[in-house]
Amino acid sequence: MLETLTGFLDRSSLAPHGICLLWRPELIWTHVVSDATIALAYFTIPVALGLFVTRRRDIAFRWMFWAFAVFIMACGITHLFAIWTLWVPDYAAEAAVKAVTASGSIVTAVLLWMLLPQALALPSPEQLRRANADLEARVCERDAALEALREAYAERDRAEDMLRQSQKMDAIGALTGGVAHDFNNLLGVVISNLDRIERFLPAESGARRSLRSAMSGAERAAALVQKMLAFARRQPLQPVPVEPNRLIGDLSELLRGALGTVEMPEMALAPDLWPVRVDPNQLENALLNLSVNARDAMPGGGRAVIRTRNVPAAEAADIAGLHPVDHVGIAVEDQGSGMSAEVIARAFEPFFTTKAVGEGTGLGLSQVFGFAKQSDGHAEIVSHPGSGTTVWLYLPRDRTGLSSAQPGAEAVRTSPPPCLGFA
Ligand SMILES: Nc1ncnc2c1ncn2[C@@H]1O[C@H](COP(=O)(O)OP(=O)(O)OP(=O)(O)O)[C@@H](O)[C@H]1O
Ligand SMILES: [Mg+2]
Repeated sequence: MLETLTGFLDRSSLAPHGICLLWRPELIWTHVVSDATIALAYFTIPVALGLFVTRRRDIAFRWMFWAFAVFIMACGITHLFAIWTLWVPDYAAEAAVKAVTASGSIVTAVLLWMLLPQALALPSPEQLRRANADLEARVCERDAALEALREAYAERDRAEDMLRQSQKMDAIGALTGGVAHDFNNLLGVVISNLDRIERFLPAESGARRSLRSAMSGAERAAALVQKMLAFARRQPLQPVPVEPNRLIGDLSELLRGALGTVEMPEMALAPDLWPVRVDPNQLENALLNLSVNARDAMPGGGRAVIRTRNVPAAEAADIAGLHPVDHVGIAVEDQGSGMSAEVIARAFEPFFTTKAVGEGTGLGLSQVFGFAKQSDGHAEIVSHPGSGTTVWLYLPRDRTGLSSAQPGAEAVRTSPPPCLGFA
């Protein structure tokens, strides 16, 4: 074995390749320079391939790059041997290197052909870009669907909240209405009997003074009961066609008094305002209650505005709580303390007040709410803490015509707000 190897490597009987070229320098050096250049290039290519696969660990078929690197390196060595054998006849070693390179090249070629279908199946950068864009579009679609779902949930929550609020108001209304109705009748008996007794008492007597004070207490109680009945939508209403702008104009002196301001409240009244069909006295009460609230919300003074506007059916359909028919909107706006969301949620409840004991009964807004509802309308609070409050009263448009309305409207200007109405 050793002998065979030594015999194979024996170069004593061989002549260097240069002899074949007759040592012609131009031939010798052309071979040397060309082989050296090829070898140099072949040695740098594996380095570049090695660097590439080391840095790009995500690349597919990395082992194939390494096979290429080894194969090209072996090719480079064969070119070095071509230079070496010009002077030294080491043909056996050269043959061995060539044999290794040949087997390496065969293996690499076979592997490459086997790999080709898989390599061709790899997505091209353009395909990847398109797939990425497609994916991004789907992610956007999914985000939009999620957003729509969130909005639907929020909308459902809002609807449930409104339903709960409306059920709560109905329940409180039923309770308040029941109590107020019975109290109203009892107070009717008390007041009418006090009235009868008064006729039998001598004028300016002590008994008469006591009876008067009992009477005034009973009347205050009756006024409270009226507000409770108003909230419960059980007060007797006498609806007539009314021009809201005229009613507000006629009421302006009283409103100014309620607002407690020297200046008249600012009027932003829509021209050509539609008429409404409501009980004018209750509308006055509602406006006075709202004005008193505006005054209380602006202890240091401030601007109050009374607004009116037509609300066409299409717009009414977008306002929660309104029927999709033409309405007239009447608002009292102030620049006062505003209300928190918690206060807004409870403000229409009877007896809810944030005012000190003795300063508020908590029945003002409930009268406004009950009156609006009993008139087939709605009341709405728009407010934020620190940025004032606007309370909108929406009343359905009257389509019966105002020809018969003038007497009703006149009655508004002449009759005082009712105090009692027994049922
Ligand atoms: N314009 C407003 N600005 C700020 N808060 C208001 C306004 N109007 C009403 N509120 C709040 O709503 C609560 C309820 O008002 P509501 O008119 O029903 O009762 P009140 O004013 O407290 O008492 P009452 O009107 O019976 O004298 C008030 O206590 C207040 O907290
Ligand atoms: Mg009030």
